[in-house]
Amino acid sequence: MESRSPFKGDILRGKVALLTGGGSGIGFEISAQLGKHGASIAIMGRRKTVLDAAVSALQSQGIQAIGLEGDVRKQDDAVRVLESTIKQFGKLDILVNAAAGNFLVPAEDLSPNGFRTVMDIDSVGTFTMCHEALKYLKKGGPGKDSSSGGIIINISATLHYTASWYQIHVSAAKAAVDSITRSLALEWGTDYDIRVNGIAPGPIGDTAGVSKLAPDEIMKKSIENQPLYKLGEKWDIAMAALYLASDAGKYINGTTLVVDGGLWLSSPRRLPKEAVKQLSLAVERRSRDVGIPKSKL
Ligand code: COA
Repeated sequence: MESRSPFKGDILRGKVALLTGGGSGIGFEISAQLGKHGASIAIMGRRKTVLDAAVSALQSQGIQAIGLEGDVRKQDDAVRVLESTIKQFGKLDILVNAAAGNFLVPAEDLSPNGFRTVMDIDSVGTFTMCHEALKYLKKGGPGKDSSSGGIIINISATLHYTASWYQIHVSAAKAAVDSITRSLALEWGTDYDIRVNGIAPGPIGDTAGVSKLAPDEIMKKSIENQPLYKLGEKWDIAMAALYLASDAGKYINGTTLVVDGGLWLSSPRRLPKEAVKQLSLAVERRSRDVGIPKSKL
């Protein structure tokens, strides 16, 4: 169900955004919402059919959009896609690194090449895109004034905050992404006025991530243990991206915003709430009756 944006429709008017992995899933919803709030959109992806469908969906909503074929693992593709974006729109204000690879696999069955593949897409790909985009995003870059630079948003995850079953590769890759976010925020925030932040989505309904990684029955069980008791929507992630990309986020740099309803903090409830209240009352009474301090019980 489409929710209405709480942001004004012109908060990104005149801005240009490039999104890797922006043709499907969470990346596409971010493309659409940045576009609906005034930005021109360039989408980079590996599959032409996905790009074409995404671009026509954006254009049908009155958004200026182009699709550019490319793989973030190839530096030449990164250079070419950035040049095409500048050629088409004259500048770059916002880079969103949303391209990612994922699959469930026990660590013992994952080949080093499988591990490397995900590191290459998520971590090295994110760095490559940032590296090649620097000259366009920095203050004084094409179409920019000499005092304000652009914005980078890296899509991360919460998997590595603890440890996640069968996702050693993605956990390692996203830990590296978060580290890249902080290092670039420090260096490029200081030198070039580029704000670099991340977003760590929890399980988001209607995405390849959830359907590939969590079969229905597992998802149902996991929702029971989730603080807000529901899956997130792609829209929730797109709103976080708008917040970070707009002036509302102008003092936010080096942060990875967790948008998971509190899930990564959660653990199964061991006692029903009523039982805890009773237990707590019983302890109070015992301490009063015996006359010893609670701390000594
Ligand atoms: N289980 C175990 N290993 C796997 C695997 C799986 N499900 N899928 C791929 N691999 C391994 C391959 O075996 C190979 O290693 P090997 O050479 O030692 O055998 C390595 O990963 C590369 O696989 P390949 O199929 O050549 O990579 P690719 O570049 O074509 O695909 C993937 C990249 C594997 C990450 C692919 O899943 C992908 O791009 N998916 C789309 C994005 C996505 O899933 N998005 C959701 C984000 S949450």
